[in-house]
Amino acid sequence: MIYIIPAVAAYLLGSLSFSFIIGKLVKGIDIRSHGSGNAGATNTLRVLGKGPAVLVLVLDVVKAILAVWIGKWMAPDLIWVHVACGLAVIIGHNWPVFFGFRGGKGVATAIGVTATLCFLPAIFAGIIAIASIFLTRYVSLGSLLFTAFLPFFVWGMGRPVEILWGVIVIGVFTFWRHRTNISKLVQGRENKIGSKKA
Ligand code: G3P
Repeated sequence: MIYIIPAVAAYLLGSLSFSFIIGKLVKGIDIRSHGSGNAGATNTLRVLGKGPAVLVLVLDVVKAILAVWIGKWMAPDLIWVHVACGLAVIIGHNWPVFFGFRGGKGVATAIGVTATLCFLPAIFAGIIAIASIFLTRYVSLGSLLFTAFLPFFVWGMGRPVEILWGVIVIGVFTFWRHRTNISKLVQGRENKIGSKKA
């Protein structure tokens, strides 16, 4: 029961929607009313440019790393607590209590969580994601490939079963949050990085 505390702390940390906060600070806008409507780094790039986007990406990754570390600090030997904190920070990012439960798609947070839970599998999945973004210019496709490949690397590299289940759930969240992107990808209407159209 005590482990509810780190999970709630992780959820609250995830609810700090940095693209929303930086959109307000930089331009006085609600990022969710612009571009793709997503509260994330890719849409910040589209709407506000490179500097704010990099800042959002870094802050979203760092909050996810911190969230997993809250779990590691509270329960160093209980991997499921670390995983629960990782899932909680992504849930907070996607459905933030401070911003009407309208957040992002959880990719930057998934990067921070998986880099902390399973560094090497995250690096290998990240290489596939970056290569696909480089080749196709679809960030959403790279995001989907990242979470789709993660369970295979986690399993193949013999990481604990708690982490395997964690990355499977992260994949489910990511595909669910990208369902509009998926249908646009299928129809060939998805926005490419560097293009202004959302
Ligand atoms: O991380 C989100 C990215 O995969 C897609 O973002 O704004 O193009 O829907 P967006």
